[in-house]
Amino acid sequence: MKVAVIGTGYVGLVTGVVLAELGNDVVCVDNDPEKIDKLRNGIPPIYEPGVEEMLKSGLRDGFLSISDSIREATRASEIVFIAVGTPPGDDGTPDLTAVRAVAAEIGKAIDKYTVVVNKSTVPVGSGELVETIIAEQGADRSSFDVVSNPEFLREGSAIYDTLNPDRIVIGAKSRDAAVKLVELYAPIEKPMIITDLESAEMIKYASNSLLATKISFINAISRLCELTGANVADVAKGVGADNRIGPQFLGAGLGWGGSCFPKDVQGLIKISERYGYDFRLLREAWNINSDQTQHFLRRIESRLGSLADKNIALLGLAFKPNTDDIRFAKSLEIIEYILERGGNVAAYDPVAAEHVKDLYPSVTYVDSVYEVSDQADALVLVTEWNEFKQIDLDRLGGPMRQRLLFDGRRVYSKQLAERAGFEYFTVGSS
Ligand code: UGA
Repeated sequence: MKVAVIGTGYVGLVTGVVLAELGNDVVCVDNDPEKIDKLRNGIPPIYEPGVEEMLKSGLRDGFLSISDSIREATRASEIVFIAVGTPPGDDGTPDLTAVRAVAAEIGKAIDKYTVVVNKSTVPVGSGELVETIIAEQGADRSSFDVVSNPEFLREGSAIYDTLNPDRIVIGAKSRDAAVKLVELYAPIEKPMIITDLESAEMIKYASNSLLATKISFINAISRLCELTGANVADVAKGVGADNRIGPQFLGAGLGWGGSCFPKDVQGLIKISERYGYDFRLLREAWNINSDQTQHFLRRIESRLGSLADKNIALLGLAFKPNTDDIRFAKSLEIIEYILERGGNVAAYDPVAAEHVKDLYPSVTYVDSVYEVSDQADALVLVTEWNEFKQIDLDRLGGPMRQRLLFDGRRVYSKQLAERAGFEYFTVGSS
């Protein structure tokens, strides 16, 4: 099939390269000349395992091309995906500026029947909005249909998730448009849920909000575990073994960050407000999440007496492993807190340091993990990168002023840390 994908962020680029890999004729569109240049040379503007290989092979084999023209891409395609960003506005409401602009361009370009697919996470009702904008540009109502096809991929495993989704959600008013998407995704051989536009849009917000709430719930339990002497890992194991609950997203830690959960939880709270419903459960999930890192920081501060002039070494900066994304990363909150109280920060991350440098130039960024602990008063594990899991703790502790380890992601065990001479603190156990 001939497909256009507008927007080459995580969702757009991954969708584009995967659809090309499946043998479709795909054109990826962006309006950023720097990105276009990189993409044409096979360099993805984001760090995501597997994307570079697929981008290169798509370009080489002729299934994938890169363009800066929405008009040309729309005219060359049967299906046009809108996959541009919908960042939170000042009050948390998703900002649809980019979606509106792209819809208008598509509306001007349509010259034959085209299925326009909203892949960006957009508030309920946005499908209708896109339809109205396209029609306002003069496109005949019978020459297009709008479909909502939300994305469930996770950063860090985006290619795998796109090829192996638990379900594919297709929301459409028109049967023909839904069938077109069913045909496109048929090679993936996964269950498809066909519904109306509004329900598809709501499925995305509800899924992310429920997952975020699940993590907040286990983090609230982690607080109780710390107080009662229970161990949250064992509790999560026991709770998650119930099929109705499931073991995933019960990992207690510093809480959720990234570009999706904070944005979508906030977004759904705002959408609810707009309809006059106070989504208290979700507001509390948000509050628990905000408090989780602050509570951990207070524990660090209390053990050190004060953070003034203390050297704190951070392992990891990305919001989670296998990505260089630092949006809503807990590392930022931690750096801010320590610097505000007169402490010094050294940090190591395999890929994300570049992005943090501009925000916090006073932090010392090192190129290898064993450099980070030099003269440190405490080591704080922020992101659970694989390379930290088998690390030689004794070697890491060697150049430290004192061996204190604060494990924000429950990567190590008390026993392991104590064997290396560390005093060990983690989330959810005393
Ligand atoms: C999330 C969803 O998982 C995807 O299904 C969705 O498509 C995506 O948002 C999106 O809306 O685009 P993502 O933000 O990439 O994906 O990452 P996750 O792996 O879901 O992690 C989100 C946050 O939760 C991270 O900060 C992670 O550290 C935290 N987390 C996750 C926990 O604290 N505990 C867990 O058990 C799992």
